Amino acid sequence: MSGFKTFAVAGAGAIGSLIVDELLREKAASKVDKVVVLTRSAAGNDALVAQGAEPIVVDYDSSASLQSALHGIDVVISTVTTAALSVQEPLGDAAKAAGVKLFVPSEFGGDTTGRTDGLFGIKNAQRLRLKQIGLPWAMFITGTFADRIWYVPRLGFDIANGKIEVGGTGDRLASFTSRRDIARYVVHVLTSLPASKLHDHVVKVEGERTTVNRVLAGYEARTGKKLDITHIPLEELQERGKNLPFNIQYLLASILELGGTNGPEDEMNVEWPEFKPQTVVEAILSFKP
Ligand SMILES: NC(=O)c1ccc[n+]([C@@H]2O[C@H](COP(=O)([O-])OP(=O)(O)OC[C@H]3O[C@@H](n4cnc5c(N)ncnc54)[C@H](OP(=O)(O)O)[C@@H]3O)[C@@H](O)[C@H]2O)c1
Repeated sequence: MSGFKTFAVAGAGAIGSLIVDELLREKAASKVDKVVVLTRSAAGNDALVAQGAEPIVVDYDSSASLQSALHGIDVVISTVTTAALSVQEPLGDAAKAAGVKLFVPSEFGGDTTGRTDGLFGIKNAQRLRLKQIGLPWAMFITGTFADRIWYVPRLGFDIANGKIEVGGTGDRLASFTSRRDIARYVVHVLTSLPASKLHDHVVKVEGERTTVNRVLAGYEARTGKKLDITHIPLEELQERGKNLPFNIQYLLASILELGGTNGPEDEMNVEWPEFKPQTVVEAILSFKP
């Protein structure tokens, strides 16, 4: 047992809401005492309250606001959106000042350790900053979300309407994990491993290691539905989105085509050998918007 009983999730969006959900299951089982959700808005939190979470409205520009919200919290799990990663600096400082024992930064993707480029570089720098301020961290490397990405047309994947644009060959191995499985793994690890094992610890989670082409073929075989699949060179995707503030289709395609996997297979899911994740096709079929 980690001994961690009180948790704050900062920004309960695409991944954070599922982590909150899993924490609330543990609260219902009396393994967790308190689940706080840090949010910028008082509106729209009724469902969280009904489930047993405690939303606290915070101002990320106010140290006093953050410290007050984190009073008595053992673990902060940051799931803030990609565009707002900078709020992790005041959040980390406030967590340290409030006596938080562990900080989980908003990673939940490819391995950012040692990276200096782009989004991965920003995430790595944020984590290194936690080390500088002396706040223990645990990071979760998960690969690409296995469920939601296939339903997002701006990523090139519109599986609901049978239309798919694959960036590059689609033949490269990549790591995928469904958001529900990520949430299950995060909460299992944070509530069951000894705290000492979690300090400055890189956790590698992997639902399935496969290629985009294999996923699409598996989906067609399982459903009997024929997909309209176009392959677009990565350079063309880069050029097409060059005037966008965030060329998200190119970013995802380059992660899937060039990013590789989470690392050697024997480094995956080691903290929870009994973990039984979904395959990517199962994650696609069970996805609920
Ligand atoms: N592996 C993958 O395939 C994959 C895919 C997507 C994301 N990710 C990663 O997962 C992490 C979380 O992403 P997500 O998609 O779950 O996030 P998200 O749903 O876009 O947003 C999460 C929360 O961030 C808060 N937020 C938004 N703008 C903010 C701002 N300006 N300042 C402070 N808070 C703000 C919001 O909470 P409130 O409105 O309640 O404050 C929001 O609910 C990121 O690190 C992202 O890079 C990975």
